[in-house]
Parts: sequence; C-alpha cells; structure tokens
Amino acid sequence: MRTLVTGGTVVTASDTVAADVLIVDEQVAAVGIDVRAGAGVDRVVDATGRYVLPGGVDVHTHMELQTPYAVASDDFATGTAAAAWGGTTTIVDYAGHDYGEPLLAGLARWRQKAAKSHLDHGLHMMVREVNDRVLAELPALVAAGVSSIKLFMAYPGVYMVDDAAIFRALGAAQERGVLVAMHAENGGPIDVLIERHVAAGETAPIFHARSRPAAMEGEATGRAIALAELAGAPIYITHLSSAAALATVRAARDRGVAVYAETCPQYLYLSDADLARPGFEGAKYVCSPPLRAATDQHELWTGLRQGDLQVVATDHCPFRLGQKELGRGDFTRIPNGLPGVEDRLTLLFQGVVDEQISLNRFVALTATIPAKIFGLYPRKGTIAPGSDADLVILDPQAERTISAATHHMNVDYSCYEGRRVQGSIETVLQRGNVIVADGSYFGRPGAGRYLARGLPDYSSC
Ligand code: URP
Ligand code: ZN
Repeated sequence: MRTLVTGGTVVTASDTVAADVLIVDEQVAAVGIDVRAGAGVDRVVDATGRYVLPGGVDVHTHMELQTPYAVASDDFATGTAAAAWGGTTTIVDYAGHDYGEPLLAGLARWRQKAAKSHLDHGLHMMVREVNDRVLAELPALVAAGVSSIKLFMAYPGVYMVDDAAIFRALGAAQERGVLVAMHAENGGPIDVLIERHVAAGETAPIFHARSRPAAMEGEATGRAIALAELAGAPIYITHLSSAAALATVRAARDRGVAVYAETCPQYLYLSDADLARPGFEGAKYVCSPPLRAATDQHELWTGLRQGDLQVVATDHCPFRLGQKELGRGDFTRIPNGLPGVEDRLTLLFQGVVDEQISLNRFVALTATIPAKIFGLYPRKGTIAPGSDADLVILDPQAERTISAATHHMNVDYSCYEGRRVQGSIETVLQRGNVIVADGSYFGRPGAGRYLARGLPDYSSC
C-alpha cells in the first residue's frame, strides 16, 4: 500500500519544509518534493495549508490505574482512542508490581491490560521496593523492552523508598543503561502537613495543595539530582510542576549533570486558584504534585523554551466526578489525577500560537525528545525514511472550544472546559493507517503493538 501525504508543511524537531511524505505500507519511505516519481500511489491524503507533524509520544499515562480509592476511568481502549483523537500515536504507560511480586509478573499483568490498546505502547515499571531480588531483575526487564523504572520520594507506605534505596537503584540502573524516573516530592513532611490540616478540620480540596508545598518538590528534586550525581547516573524528573523544582534542574544542567525533566499541560495552564474554586469543584483539579501558583507557569514556559525542560507528557489519570466525590469532606480521599491525554498537543500548540515556543520546539517536546529518552527513536518521534508512518495533520488556523461534551476521554468533565484554542487536529495516521479523518474514527482495540523499547538516547536532549 502506497500513500502520499501531499501539499503540506512537514515539521520535525529541526526542520520546517514544504514537502510530500510517501508512505509504503507502515513506514515513511521518502520525504521531499516529487517523491512519487517512478511509481503510482494507492491513496492520496491532501495536507494543503496544513502542518504534517510526527505523531505525538506521551510518555506518562496511567490507564486503568488502581489507586487507593478508585480505578482511573480510562482503560487502554478508551484512553488510547482519546489520545489518537488528540494526535498522540504512542503512549508509554506506568506498569506496577505489588510488594513481594517480581517486576516481570507486574509487567505481564500490564501487558495483558494493554492488549486492547488502539495505539502502539511501551511500558515503564514503577518500583516500590529496592532489594537484591528486584535489582537482579533489571536485565530481564531491559530484555522485555522496559528501559526505565520509576521511584517515588512521596507516598510513604505505598510507594516511597528512602535515599539509600534510591542511591542503590540509581547505581544498578546505570550499569544496565536503565533510566530512573523520579516522583520528586518529600513524602515525610507532606504526610505531617496532611495530618495537621485534617486535625484542624481543613478538608476542602485546596488543602491538598497546601499539604504539598512547592518547597518540598524543590527539596526532593534537588536531593534526587544529588543522589544521581553521586551514583554517576542520569535521572528523569516526572511531572515537574514548580519554579522551585525547575531551579534545581537548571542549576544541575548548568554544571553538566545528566538530568532531564518533564512537565505537563496542567502545570502550564491551571493553578491553585482552580483548586480553590467554590464548593467541591476544586476536586476536579486534585493531582500530585498539585497545581501551583500562576506565577510558576511563566517559569515553566521559560524552561521549555530554553531547554531546561525537555518533555511535555500528561500524567493522564482521569477520574469521573462520582469518583472524585469520594473525597467530599476529606481531601485525602479525593482520587489523585487529571484527564489530559487528548488535549496535550492542542494545549501545547497554544504555546506556538502565543509565541512561547517555536513550532520545532513543539515537535521536540511532544514527540522527538520523549521518543529519544525512552528508547523509541527514530522509529517514533520523527518523520524520516524508515520511521513508522505515525503522522498528524493539523490545521493551524482552525479554532475550536475544548469541552467534555466533545472530548473522547472516559471522564465527565474537562479541566479546560470552554477554552478557545487555535489549531485543529484533522487527520491522524498510525503506521500508515488513517485512524482519524473528517471527524470520524477508524482505530480499533488491539491494533496497537507493544513496543519493546531500546536504551535511552540522550543526544541533543
Ligand atoms: O495525581 C497523579 N499524578 N496521579 C497519578 C499517579 C502519579 O503520582 O503520577
Ligand atoms: Zn503519574
């Protein structure tokens, strides 16, 4: 099957060129002008006046994650269909294991859940205990295509590991080429603050944020980086939300430390003022780390522009309003997490419209760099001969309004309800198959393939 995407402007992390894209079966065969020469095509996709972008790579999702009080409402079928509507064609979800359970057993369970994915998908592994048995599994994990593990400095008794465990894990991971991703919030003092607020009867959603101050994210981020430096290992900071944490990343990168960091659209567009909305509405916005002061947003945009932040992922972990209700009168029982997998490209494209970031930086942040850091490049994350033909065709002039009434995520509210946005994702191809076009959806459960990821490539990151 030969498909020609014609008339568009092809945008990669480095170039913006008027060019056609020739797809043969599942891969890009050629990019350029007159690429059809010498052979016919079976299908033509007109991209006149449109940007042709690499499919988005969202490296932080939690499909059907079991949390203490509720299960995330998108499963791998609904969540990946929604992601596709929003121009994401690859996800990397966080698999988990139980205490005492081998990592590979947890991975096998997650692969079963992911079998209904519409999209190609990889998996990270959330590691909740560090011991000889767990560390001895790292080679097998890499062989199974999992080249990143996540550790937590928060959630004592559930996920949190101590500094010695982090240091040991960093060293062992470095020996195998595995990247450690870190949830960097200091869980000890956070739990004390939670106790104090609850004891004082301060149970509204805003006290979720008051219990998790930015200073404790900054402290944990700096400590994680110091431990990585000591171990001589790279480190990746997940869902960085605050200027305090960004300052430690910037300072470390300035002195040559291999630290990489992601932020998420919610930290660029929402703030603690949303958590403080009247009544219980703030529950819609409860996630960890929490939404910060509006002033932090400016710093995060600067970090994206200047290269101190390399990835925009979603931390997609949606709960329906009925599930959020579990925490009415007790913010500690509000399921933590926000919907976002469908809105990531659209929201970050506003950064291009608003001249916060360049078009090429937009591609780098949403596709190319995440694919590199998580061992998927150049198969994913760019448009080049030999890459998978995962393409997004975006009309940069079209406007629309984000709303739960029109989104496809399995959640009954939008954090961005009523927001006018410029730029509309019209057509999405996964491995040469059109899965979104003309307002219709053609993807299907099980069409996504498991991606055995390679080791990280940190070049130009
Ligand atoms: O609130 C969030 N982010 N929930 C998802 C789990 C996590 O900590 O990443
Ligand atoms: Zn997460």
